[in-house]
Amino acid sequence: MKSPKDYLIFPLDVPTYEEAIQCVETLKDHVGLFKVGLQLFVGVGPKILRAIRERSGAGIFLDLKFHDIPATVKNAFMAASTYGATFTTVHCDEGKGLLRSVVENNPSGTKILAVTVLTSLEGKDLKELGYIDRYVNDITELVILKARMAKEAGCSGVVCSGLEVEKVKAEFGKNFIAVTPGIRPAWSLAGKDDQKRIITPFQAIKRGADYIVVGRPIRSAEKPIEATKRVLDEIEMAISQ
Ligand code: C5P
Repeated sequence: MKSPKDYLIFPLDVPTYEEAIQCVETLKDHVGLFKVGLQLFVGVGPKILRAIRERSGAGIFLDLKFHDIPATVKNAFMAASTYGATFTTVHCDEGKGLLRSVVENNPSGTKILAVTVLTSLEGKDLKELGYIDRYVNDITELVILKARMAKEAGCSGVVCSGLEVEKVKAEFGKNFIAVTPGIRPAWSLAGKDDQKRIITPFQAIKRGADYIVVGRPIRSAEKPIEATKRVLDEIEMAISQ
């Protein structure tokens, strides 16, 4: 049985090893996984993964969002798989063949999540990118298209916004993992940053998210531990209903 903190992923979106470790020490008893993304991994390197493991019992989400030609992604993923992360991410945009070649060459227990449509994008961004009106007007449909590729390729799940998670779960079943960023509690500064397709922790879990990524609402809070506890309370409320 998952406890509320098992649903919570905190992204270590900080530039230095020292700041990352400080976040880990502060939050290690309150979150299920720490997410290491491009900024920290490129800046600090894999030693941060060892350090997280030595200091906490939390899992690691190595969010490198691979996106390149199939051979490069496959080889980059194989290198990343040696770090023992719980999850890592590959973009859907190069198609099912790429996703499948990563899944089929996974020598580790690291689960592969496919990134569908970033939560920082909205309809007008998709239009600029050349998407047809069908997807510009209904992002959920685009997310489902990409999630279907991920499912058919054998990925463990997807990253999608809380606005699409219910449909993803309905289409692909409860074992197909949905990780949901773009989380903005009602008490945070919703709508004031780059996240567009946002939803509260309570709503995301109610709609079926297996994990929520909550960064700035915690990191920018005056009292980060208090903010984390408020998020955990919302998760608890959602799972107990
Ligand atoms: O809560 P906050 O907006 O600060 O979370 C930002 C984090 O969410 C970043 O680490 C970013 O990489 C991640 N993210 C993601 N997928 C998206 C959007 C954001 O993993 N679609």
